[in-house]
Amino acid sequence: MAKARTAYVCSQCGSEHSKWQGQCADCGAWNTLGAFVVEPAQTPVARRGSYAGAAAGAPRITPLASVAQTQEARTSIGIGELDRVLGGGLVEGSVVLVGGDPGIGKSTLLLQMLGALGTRLSSLYVSGEESLAQVAARAQRLGLALDPLRGLAETCIEHILEHAAAERPRVLVVDSIQTIWTELLTAAPGSVSQVRESAAKLTRYAKETGTGVFLVGHVTKEGGIAGPRVLEHMVDAVLYFEGEAGSRFRVLRAFKNRFGAVNELGVFAMSDKGLREVPNPSAIFLSAHSGPTPGSAVMVTREGTRPLLVEVQALVDASPLANPRRVALGLEQNRLAMLLAVLHRHGGAAVYDQDVFVNVVGGIRVQETAADLPVLLAVLSSFRNRALPDKTIAFGEVGLSGEIRPVPNGEERLKEAATHGFLRAIVPRANAPKKGRVGDLEIIAVDRLGDALAAAG
Ligand code: TYD
Ligand code: MG
Repeated sequence: MAKARTAYVCSQCGSEHSKWQGQCADCGAWNTLGAFVVEPAQTPVARRGSYAGAAAGAPRITPLASVAQTQEARTSIGIGELDRVLGGGLVEGSVVLVGGDPGIGKSTLLLQMLGALGTRLSSLYVSGEESLAQVAARAQRLGLALDPLRGLAETCIEHILEHAAAERPRVLVVDSIQTIWTELLTAAPGSVSQVRESAAKLTRYAKETGTGVFLVGHVTKEGGIAGPRVLEHMVDAVLYFEGEAGSRFRVLRAFKNRFGAVNELGVFAMSDKGLREVPNPSAIFLSAHSGPTPGSAVMVTREGTRPLLVEVQALVDASPLANPRRVALGLEQNRLAMLLAVLHRHGGAAVYDQDVFVNVVGGIRVQETAADLPVLLAVLSSFRNRALPDKTIAFGEVGLSGEIRPVPNGEERLKEAATHGFLRAIVPRANAPKKGRVGDLEIIAVDRLGDALAAAG
């Protein structure tokens, strides 16, 4: 019989090493290796034995046509923004990881979800962090019907699965995965190996029983979900709950989803009665300027499946530093550095001796390249202290040779801008509709960065 061996797993990148080291050889992070006991594999003889009988229930080769129809049984949760982020509702047997900072509202959201499901799907809320009294008090404050809700205050995964097997809930919430531990391992709860093994057991349970499993995950200082990255590979969907400190708006983002679009956004507002949906969020990501303001540009982003108006702000100021600061909040840092180089080379604006700060209003993150043009317009507007023309939006990718490249779903973005009363749009030529107008929106189609900067005044 092979002996159990100890592997060292990096909590940052999930890679395995045979010896402990201060630095992960794969990703270069320091102090991230944690001990993980690897159970001995079954001996080849034992494995062959289990296949020889082809026992009932053993996996078989199956024509995909006969399984495709039974897959993806979806249930609408009844909270529109959550359904949207999940790709149209809760999928049977799926495992969803919900990550976010402490206090952002993960427990609240999942409790509200169970409340919304009510008697339509039986559920079980496993709390490893709060007592059931606390959970019940919260459910009451949220105004949920308490009757269909069942809770379990337990952290041992073997016990949880025993209860689940007896109770057979269709939806299982585990809050949080970092508190769950397995009897198989001696490592402390919350350690990489405990989190990984517990999540693996829950995933197996979900697939075998068709239960929808929601795992709450804490977020590290770096913004990843604590525990190994393998957690993200194991589950079907990873949702991040984000929000700016001090803001009551919360954005739920699909970071990975096997059953829907990634980067899908659901927007909520936290109230004294819990999270309320914001079904038409465009307006809240625009700050309330009384008129045109230097350093501000409005863009239409299309994260997921709907267009969204967001404001990009820039502050450009003479830097006292030898290496001026480039700070991007809600955007990618390296992309900003690249855009500033393009601005110098093809737009004729030299900001190498300036600090440049760029922020997306409302704490939302824009990952698509359509933000390139609005970022440069905001930067130049701040640099020259000259506001963009009133009621103007922009979007478009900026290439290294100064060309403005089209982005997907141009027409839909323009319609959203027209709906919200914008009058002018600076967009890539290939995204401009033939007629040159969408509603009251005048379209200014541009090919090169120079044209765009000229159009912006
Ligand atoms: P919670 O769901 O406990 O956060 P998490 O599980 O992500 O740590 O949310 C707690 C915060 O939400 C807390 O600061 C209070 C606030 N809150 C409200 O404002 N209204 C409410 O109705 C509830 C239940 C919570
Ligand atoms: Mg919580």
